[in-house]
Amino acid sequence: MTNRTQNAVITGVGMYVPETVLDNKYFEKIVDTTNEWILSRTGISERRIIENGTTSDLATGALRDLMASSGLQAEDIDVIIICTITPDMFFPATACIVQNNVGAKNAWGFDLSAACSGFLFGLETGSALIESGRYKKVVVIGADKMSSVIDYTDRNTCILFGDAASAVLLESTSDTNYGIQDSILHCDGSGKDALCMLGGGSKNPASYETIDKGYHFIYQDGKTVFKAAVNGMADVSYKIMQKHNLTGDDVAYLVPHQANLRIIDATAKKMNITRDKVMINIGKYGNTTAATIPLCLTEYYRDGKVKKGDKLILAAFGAGFTWGSMYIVWGID
Ligand code: UT7
Repeated sequence: MTNRTQNAVITGVGMYVPETVLDNKYFEKIVDTTNEWILSRTGISERRIIENGTTSDLATGALRDLMASSGLQAEDIDVIIICTITPDMFFPATACIVQNNVGAKNAWGFDLSAACSGFLFGLETGSALIESGRYKKVVVIGADKMSSVIDYTDRNTCILFGDAASAVLLESTSDTNYGIQDSILHCDGSGKDALCMLGGGSKNPASYETIDKGYHFIYQDGKTVFKAAVNGMADVSYKIMQKHNLTGDDVAYLVPHQANLRIIDATAKKMNITRDKVMINIGKYGNTTAATIPLCLTEYYRDGKVKKGDKLILAAFGAGFTWGSMYIVWGID
């Protein structure tokens, strides 16, 4: 399958979703929208919001769940990668806070910013650390408190996003039939204005003016992002399938970023993959940015729907623009 003698393989999963549920009826009360519009245009019924807590709390919850379910000991973790665009603070990295929360005293770590493609970029980075032979246990966590950057008076964006975190453990396997097989990843900064948060960084440091202009909220040109997402995700997913001589029949699941059910359906159609072979949980959680893909993997695995040896195509598109696809073979019994 590959020329490598060792592959990185996912050997454990974990997740954390906060308790508070905001359903579509709630949004009918706060902005000019309807349950029918939200459901038909996005596929979202409800999303979760953390009321008293931060991204590190979400990530810590997911890591603790991973540790409890996989037997991973805190002191055995070598690296913690937190994929997020909503870190607790600019610095220190959220990874440091999570490291301290779980007592991973032998770990180093860092935050990775690639928006909705964050988990794929993190999985690629974590895999390379494992394949280098220098690290044995790398944790990759997608975590975002999107409610911290949402304008709840903007109907274009507020209905879309939710808060969540999900974690995977990467270890090495000498059976290269399993694990992370390949990736095609891209970024294109010419799309930077279509999906961004303008304020707070070195371009527009926080000021009364940036607050007045709402620069601390997400801005999205939905239509532009929609088109780019369908084309980008389908293109790389199709390419990676071709490269590995995979047909829709060979693939157990497409695992797409959960931004919009119409984007997911359009991507699957272009790949000739039927709806029953697409992981979907957007209805329950909305778009949780870096958390969507590992959240799908965790839920489908725990529901017994993913089996060892299953071929999965992961695909994402997000701010940057960033996008990509990964081919993995599930390695947990
Ligand atoms: O995860 C990162 C990547 N992000 C994405 O992939 C998201 C990509 N974009 C999308 O998913 C879709 O573009 C949206 C769900 C954001 C919007 O759906 P759309 O079908 O593209 O709607 P639109 O932006 O073309 O708006 C159509 C109409 C507009 O009204 P007018 O101008 O035609 O009168 C909007 O103002 O729908 C209106 N609208 C709403 N109406 C009711 C926008 N949001 C709402 C709403 N409720 N919540």
